[in-house]
Amino acid sequence: MGLVDKKVVVITGGAQGIGLCAAERFAEEGATVSIWDFNEEKGNASAALLQEKGYPVRFQQVNVTDLESVNAAAEALHTDTGKIDVLVNNAGITRDATLLKMTEEQWQQVIDVNLSGVFHCTKAIAPFMVEQGSGCIINTSSVVGLYGNFGQTNYVATKSGVIGMTKVWARELGRKGIRVNVVAPGFIATDMIDSVPEKVIDAMVGKTPMARVGKPEDIANAYIYLSSDLSSFVTGTVISVDGGLIT
Ligand code: NAI
Repeated sequence: MGLVDKKVVVITGGAQGIGLCAAERFAEEGATVSIWDFNEEKGNASAALLQEKGYPVRFQQVNVTDLESVNAAAEALHTDTGKIDVLVNNAGITRDATLLKMTEEQWQQVIDVNLSGVFHCTKAIAPFMVEQGSGCIINTSSVVGLYGNFGQTNYVATKSGVIGMTKVWARELGRKGIRVNVVAPGFIATDMIDSVPEKVIDAMVGKTPMARVGKPEDIANAYIYLSSDLSSFVTGTVISVDGGLIT
C-alpha cells in the first residue's frame, strides 16, 4: 500500500520541475493526481507521460491568478472524483530586480501568482475538505521567505506571506480535520534556477552543509510526508528542505 493510497491530489504548477516530480511521486504512492498548470502544452505532455507509465494522472489547464478558472477546475474535479484530499500549492514565478529597479508590473505579477494564486486555490478547494471532514494543504515557500534575498522584494514578500497564511489556516481549519503546512525549499535543480549565475549557485552550495543543490525529489518527498498519515499531528509548521543552507 502507498503512503497516499486512493487520495485525490491537486498539484499546481505540476507541468514541470518540482510539481511534475511530485505528481509522479504521489502517483507512485497510490494517489490519483490532477496537474493544474497554466502551460497547456507542457501540462498535457507531462500528464500523457505519466499516463503511459500507468498512473491515474490528468491535466486541467488552470491559471491560478484567475479565481473563475480555479473554481471551474475544482468543481469539475470534485464532480468527477467525489472528493479532493490534498492540495499542493506549488506554482510559483520569479521576476527579480532590486528595489530601486523593480517595476510595479514585476511586483504585481509575482504577487498575483505566488500569493493570490495560493489564496484562490485554497479558497476553491477548502470547502470540499470541510464538507468531507479531512484534507491536507501544503504551501510552497522558500529558504528566501525565511531569511530574505538580494533582488527579490516581490518573491520574498510572497514566500513569507504564504507562511503567514498557513499559520492562519492551520488555526481556522484544524478542528475541521484539515492540516495546513509549508515546505521551504533551498536551491533545487529546476528551470527556475536556470537563470541564476553559476557562481551564485556555487556560493550557495558552499554554504550548504549537505554540499549540493537539491533535487525535485527532495521536495516531492516532503510533500508526500505532509500529505500522509505519517504527519497526522503536524500542522501550521514550516519544513525546511534546504540541505541545512546557512544564509
Ligand atoms: P518551475 O518554474 O520549474 O515550475 C513552475 C510551474 O508553475 C510551471 O509549470 C508554470 O507553468 C506554473 N505556473 C506559473 N504560473 C502559473 C499560473 N499563473 N497558473 C498555473 N500555473 C502556473 O518552478 P519550480 O522550480 O518547480 O518551483 C516550484 C515551486 O517551488 C515554486 O513555488 C517555487 O517558488 C518554489 N521554490 C523553488 C526553488 C528552486 O530552487 N527551484 C527554491 C525555493 C522555492
